[in-house]
Amino acid sequence: MIESVKGARDILPEEIARWHFVERTAHELFARYGFREIRTPIFEPTELFARGIGEGSDIVAKEMYTFLDRKGRSLTLRPENTAPVARAYIQHQLHRRGDIEKLYYIGPMFRYERPQKGRMRQFSQIGVEVFGSDHPAVDAETLEMLVAFLSRLGIEPVRLVLNSVGDPVCRPSYRQALVDYLTPHRGRLCEDCRRRLEVNPLRCFDCKVPADRELMAGAPSVADFLCSECAAHFDSVRAYLDAFGVAYELDPRLVRGLDYYRRTTFEVIAPSLGAQNALLGGGRYDGLVESLGGPAAPGFGFAVGEDRLVLSLPDAAAAGDERPEVAIVALGEPAIAPALEAARRLRRAGRSVIFDPVPDKSLKAQMRRAHDRQAAFVLILGEEEIARGVLTLKKMSDGVQATVPQAELLTKLQEMAHA
Ligand code: HAM
Repeated sequence: MIESVKGARDILPEEIARWHFVERTAHELFARYGFREIRTPIFEPTELFARGIGEGSDIVAKEMYTFLDRKGRSLTLRPENTAPVARAYIQHQLHRRGDIEKLYYIGPMFRYERPQKGRMRQFSQIGVEVFGSDHPAVDAETLEMLVAFLSRLGIEPVRLVLNSVGDPVCRPSYRQALVDYLTPHRGRLCEDCRRRLEVNPLRCFDCKVPADRELMAGAPSVADFLCSECAAHFDSVRAYLDAFGVAYELDPRLVRGLDYYRRTTFEVIAPSLGAQNALLGGGRYDGLVESLGGPAAPGFGFAVGEDRLVLSLPDAAAAGDERPEVAIVALGEPAIAPALEAARRLRRAGRSVIFDPVPDKSLKAQMRRAHDRQAAFVLILGEEEIARGVLTLKKMSDGVQATVPQAELLTKLQEMAHA
């Protein structure tokens, strides 16, 4: 038997209603805030991620699916979508009109990580990106939308954790302070952190090794190093959030694993997810578009792990969303033609119908199938119905049934549905 690749999984029909539910909610809600969908390719030139996310990040250093195509070009399956969307923004000159551009996406990402619950090698993200403004109101309004999104999905309680990581004015002195703090302990750092210390010491905050985490707990705090512009920006974001009534916690150790962040960074933690508890992450990335060869367009966004989102939904979410309205039970070969006719009639009128032509299967077995699929109604065509040229319609919720000719089927269904 050939099985799916480790870390990649099938989403089966039993689960799909929950995926549709979160995607439908995203499409509806994001549109309300002026976001439009963008779909970018699943693979990109490797250089896009090396430059966009940063050579020093774990993603670029060890998690990318990179391969040469037949012409020897280095391509990479996208590990995230902020850099690709920024690339598309530049390539199609979406900045030309000088407007704020609000984009969102839903789709698969790929990272070579150790798979466990909620952590996959192919996973899906729902993300948004706002280009063209560094106003703190953009940060706050997008966060407000995010909180509204989670609340509409019934995902509560969650913790919104917020930080500012400064900008190229103030970050160098913070970086230096970290280097000064860590260098005397270099010998006891894990191998990854020794590499991080050279390339980007802020990454050491992401380390999962207990001894390193303990050391990082005593490290200097970025909050003490913010320049006055960054501090004012952060104060303003917080003031807007307070005005919206959006609750958050501050964590000066939240630096996030991608190099493009400036100023605001955040994560949402869902306790139900256990060790892999970051439901989503995001922040501001004002230098990214420029570093990819575009204009000086600031940006802000987030991406939710859709797999984790679906895991965090309440059990009842989307239950029964995709159940058929009618299941047809047809006994014996002569029942097939009238069953097909009834199915066509119902579907033309917009009803969802399941019908399996299995005339030899018993009434009991066919009823069980209708029950398993949670059909609201069962339409029965047995020997007696065929002989009399009628159909029996049964409402599953109360067992009430009625016998009608084909021509009256729709009216009867409507009447019984509203009874
Ligand atoms: P990220 O924190 O790397 O940020 O990923 C965002 C979310 O994707 C995570 O919080 C998690 O829910 C989900 N995720 C990441 N890796 C995996 C995995 N291996 N399996 C399952 N879920 C995973 C970004 O990707 C940024 N592009 C977010 C962003 C958008 N920042 C600004 N705009």
